[in-house]
Amino acid sequence: MLSKTIAKDMKNASATRRMFEEGLELKKKYGESNVVDFSLGNPMIEPPEEFNKIVSDLAKSGRKGTHRYMPNAGHKEVREAVANYLNKKGYFKGLTFENVTMCVGAAGGLNVILKTILNKGEEVITVAPYFTEYMSYVKNHQGKQVSVDAAEDFSLDVKAIGKAVTSKTRAIILNSPNNPTGVMYSKKNLEDLASMLSEKESKLKRDIYVMSDEPYREMVYRGNFVSPASFHKNSFMVYSWSKSLSLPGERIGYIALNPEMKHKDNIAKGLAFCNRILGFVNAPTMMQHVLPKILNTEVEEKYYRYMRDYYKGLHDPLEKCLKESGYVFPSPQGAFFFWVKCPMSGNNLEKGEKEFIETVKNKFLMLLVPGSTFGKAGWFRLAYAVNPEVVESGCKKLREVAKHYRIY
Ligand SMILES: Cc1ncc(COP(=O)(O)O)c(C=O)c1O
Repeated sequence: MLSKTIAKDMKNASATRRMFEEGLELKKKYGESNVVDFSLGNPMIEPPEEFNKIVSDLAKSGRKGTHRYMPNAGHKEVREAVANYLNKKGYFKGLTFENVTMCVGAAGGLNVILKTILNKGEEVITVAPYFTEYMSYVKNHQGKQVSVDAAEDFSLDVKAIGKAVTSKTRAIILNSPNNPTGVMYSKKNLEDLASMLSEKESKLKRDIYVMSDEPYREMVYRGNFVSPASFHKNSFMVYSWSKSLSLPGERIGYIALNPEMKHKDNIAKGLAFCNRILGFVNAPTMMQHVLPKILNTEVEEKYYRYMRDYYKGLHDPLEKCLKESGYVFPSPQGAFFFWVKCPMSGNNLEKGEKEFIETVKNKFLMLLVPGSTFGKAGWFRLAYAVNPEVVESGCKKLREVAKHYRIY
């Protein structure tokens, strides 16, 4: 028997997953090549060739103790490699291994942080549109999600965020480049946010944390990435190699604390404890051992170049097609998403969006995710973690949809 809460949450569960399942049905009925599935952000390119060799060499080495339990925060030499990497890349100054916790992907990391810092009923701000699962993560740890709309260009609306901060606010989750918009936050935008948060911290006499979720930071096509964790002292950086090395099934990532965070050593101990009690225990050991052999090497550089070129090769024709067909969307600087206004009539955003998504699915055999899934109705997300052929037939369908809705 399902718990009442889970039964209810599953019913309202992510439209993304539902779309994925409906996509499988449609493909069975109409043939794989006739359905364009832009619903899931699941990297389908292979990890670096060298990755398989490193894993296989590790397995063959038969080093004693490799598969044992370890300190819950992860292997010291791996945490050291991550700390050195982040200092070298200029994200932090003076980060040491004590303030790096290896975790089970970004999803695991975010849950571990929330478990560590949230008291019951405390508020966590998310910026809409937001990654759907933030809702569940906050709820998992008895927090209350407070959603603030992004600015019109999908940057951070610092004034609106400031208004939403209360004596119960404990954290704000940021994601740059963003899922679903692809927008990246600028240095100025993040400086403004940090100064507003510091003022609120002094006024309210409480720590307010930035949780910077950055799994797409290597996937940038325009401009330079700046980490939202580098500005406000009380910041967590959450990273995973799910997208950058195309390893989502391996569940490997880390949490790094801004070296200027207050009480950071205590917080780091809390993270290690929560990693264990949430049942993750520790991040997968083999994957941890692979990392020092890839970070800061030519393998990493070469792969990031290849991965960026691959996705940019899909991004460019899609952007051209969307522009030429008259769709309205912010120009994404990174990740593998377009966030597009539904070309529908009427003022009822939910109803119009639903009608649009259903029509596109049933009449044009194309799967898109409705904006309401991300906390903002009237839009859709197009994820292009797909093959080039899918983009080619997708562009044709997008043009037909535009004609159908007379927006061209
Ligand atoms: C914004 C965002 N955060 C976190 C995650 C979870 O990633 P991971 O596989 O590292 O747990 C995803 C996955 O799609 C994501 O888009």
